[in-house]
Amino acid sequence: MTTIAANPADHHDHAHDADHKPGFFARWFMSTNHKDIGTLYLIFAILAGVIGGGISGLMRLELAEPGIQYLTGWASMMAGKEASLDEAYHMWNVLITAHGLIMVFFMVMPAIIGGFGNWFVPLMIGAPDMAIAHEEWVANLFSGLSNNQHSQMYTLLGAMKKNLQKQEEMS
Ligand code: HEM
Repeated sequence: MTTIAANPADHHDHAHDADHKPGFFARWFMSTNHKDIGTLYLIFAILAGVIGGGISGLMRLELAEPGIQYLTGWASMMAGKEASLDEAYHMWNVLITAHGLIMVFFMVMPAIIGGFGNWFVPLMIGAPDMAIAHEEWVANLFSGLSNNQHSQMYTLLGAMKKNLQKQEEMS
């Protein structure tokens, strides 16, 4: 006796290959596709560029006139009390350091290496993906570094604020 249905419509298997698109989270944050990962890097770099660019805007604002315009106010905001002239000068160092590090390590490098690297290297060498065997290992490694860099940014800003507070205690 056969178990195969005479009429193919009696099988309900056909429903299994209906729309199998992943949801937003799985699509973008669990992807191992080199183009997706490259795109995420480019978005990250653009956001970091906006932050670094915002800081350069602050610096330009300060430099637009001779003398100190805003640094004392910004240092006071960060410290939560009236800042001294020394603390105002230190605020400049905080801004230039944050701007330089964010621009180079969070904008330029993620864009070039993570963004364009992930996008173009597989295309240039004719590979289907960034791949070691079937694991897309390199792409995943890059993606992990990206998250790490993100947390480093917060560490950096936290450290700068701490530094300012310490300077204030010593003055
Ligand atoms: C790829 C990396 C960088 C980019 C795209 C970048 C971009 C910019 C831009 C657009 C400005 C505004 C200029 C203006 O309006 O006058 C600026 C200002 C400034 N940047 Fe950068 N920057 C980068 C890296 C750095 C680094 C590594 C440092 C120093 C460590 C630095 C220090 C400064 C300073 C001191 C200013 C204020 C000077 C001024 O406005 O005259 N930058 N940057």
